[in-house]
Amino acid sequence: MGGRRATASKRKPPASAGGAGRQPAGGPAAAAAAGLDNYNDGEDSRDRARKQQQQQQQQQQKHHQQRLLNVFSDAFAAVLARDSFPTILQEIKQALYNRDFAAAFGRQDYLEAYAARWSPTRALCYAAVFRGIRGHLDAVVAVDETEAMPSRDAAAEGVEEPSASDYGASPPARRLRMLCFGGCAAEHVAFASYLRETASSGTVTLVDSAPWSQTASLLQQHLTSPPPLSKYASAAARAANTALLDDDSQLRFAFCQEDALSLGRDRLAELVVGATGTSQQQQPQRPLVVTLMFTLNELYTDGGIGRTTKFLRLLGEVLPEGSLLLVVDSPGSYSEAAVGKEDKKKKYPMQWLLNHTLLGTETVGYTWEGIESEDSIWFRLPEGLDYPIPLENMRYQMHLYRIHKSKS
Ligand SMILES: C[S@@+](CC[C@H](N)C(=O)[O-])C[C@H]1O[C@@H](n2cnc3c(N)ncnc32)[C@H](O)[C@@H]1O
Repeated sequence: MGGRRATASKRKPPASAGGAGRQPAGGPAAAAAAGLDNYNDGEDSRDRARKQQQQQQQQQQKHHQQRLLNVFSDAFAAVLARDSFPTILQEIKQALYNRDFAAAFGRQDYLEAYAARWSPTRALCYAAVFRGIRGHLDAVVAVDETEAMPSRDAAAEGVEEPSASDYGASPPARRLRMLCFGGCAAEHVAFASYLRETASSGTVTLVDSAPWSQTASLLQQHLTSPPPLSKYASAAARAANTALLDDDSQLRFAFCQEDALSLGRDRLAELVVGATGTSQQQQPQRPLVVTLMFTLNELYTDGGIGRTTKFLRLLGEVLPEGSLLLVVDSPGSYSEAAVGKEDKKKKYPMQWLLNHTLLGTETVGYTWEGIESEDSIWFRLPEGLDYPIPLENMRYQMHLYRIHKSKS
C-alpha cells in the first residue's frame, strides 16, 4: 500500500543482537565461554547491512519519484511559469468548492493547471498504491509472447533504479491493461511508473467527461522522450539522458471523452474489450484493472447514487473474469453522498454505498470479492524532492475488488 510503504521506513528496525531475546542462554559470560564472543558483531553487521540496503532502496525510490515529478515540471513548464497560474488555481478551487465540476474541468487552461498543481502528488501516491498491490496486478497481466520485453541499458542511466530483477520479474513480455474512469494525468504517470519499475508493458485507456486528450498526449510525449537538457550538458550527461519509458509501445494509451454514467452496456463492453486488446468474440477475455481514482465520490454526488449504482452494475456485467476494480478517494466525511430533499437529506459514506452495491446486493452472473481495503492512509512525500511549487502529503481511502464470473 502507498501509505504503508511511504511510512515503512519509520518503522523500528528489527531488534538488534543486543535484544534480550537474541542472546544465547546464560548471557554474555556463557556466550564467551561457549566461544560466541563474535555473536553480537555478526548480528550487528547484518543489521547494518540491512539498514544500508534499506537506505539504498529509499534513495533509488526517491530518485525515481523525482523523475516522475520532472515529467510534470517539464511538460507544464510554461503553465507553471504563467503569471495567471495562481489566479487560475483559485478559479478551479472555487469551482470545486461549489461542486461545479463542469466548470472546474471544462477549460484547457484549467486542465493544464490542475495537472501541474494537483496531479504530481497524486501520481506519486498512485504509483505507490500500484506498487503495493503488485501481487494482484501480476495476476491480471496477460502474457503476450508476441511482444518483446522492453530493453533498457540501466548502467547508462547513472543512478540505478528499481528494475525487473529487483521485483523478480522475468521475460516474456508482460502487458498490464488498465481502464481508468475519471482518469487523467495522475493515473497516466503512475501507470508509466509501474511499467518502468516492473520492466513491463501496458495499455491504459483514460475515460473522462472532460477534454483531457491534449494533456494526456503531452504527458505521453514526455514519458517516452528523454528530458530536455541544458545546451551546456556534458557528453556523459547526454549519454545518460534517457526517457522514463522505452517508447510508445511500452505504454500504449488511448483517451475517450465520455460521460461514464451515460455509457450503455454495449459501449461499456466496447471500452473494456478495446482496453484488453481482445475481440468481442475472443474467449476467454483477458482480465484488466479498472480504476476510479478520486472520481467515484464525484460520480455519486454529481451524477447521483442511482446512476452511479447502475454504472457499477453494468461494469460487473461486462468485465472479464479476474478483473480488478481499484477505488481511491478522499477518506471519511470528505466522501459522502447525500440523498433526499433539503430538509430530509441523508448522507451515505462512499465506501458504504460501494460495498452495498458490490458485496451487499444480489448480482446475476458475477460476484465481487473485496481483497484489500483501507479507510485512511497517508501518502507522504520524502524530504528533498524538487518541484517548482510546493506539494503536500495526501490522505486517501483505498478499496480493491476482484470479479468472479459464474459459468453459464
Ligand atoms: C477529482 S478529478 C480526479 C482526476 C484524477 N483521477 C486524479 O486522481 O487526479 C475527477 C475526474 O473525474 C472526471 N469525471 C467526473 N464525472 C465524470 C463522469 N460522469 N464521467 C467521466 N468522468 C468524470 C472529471 O472530469 C475529472 O477529470
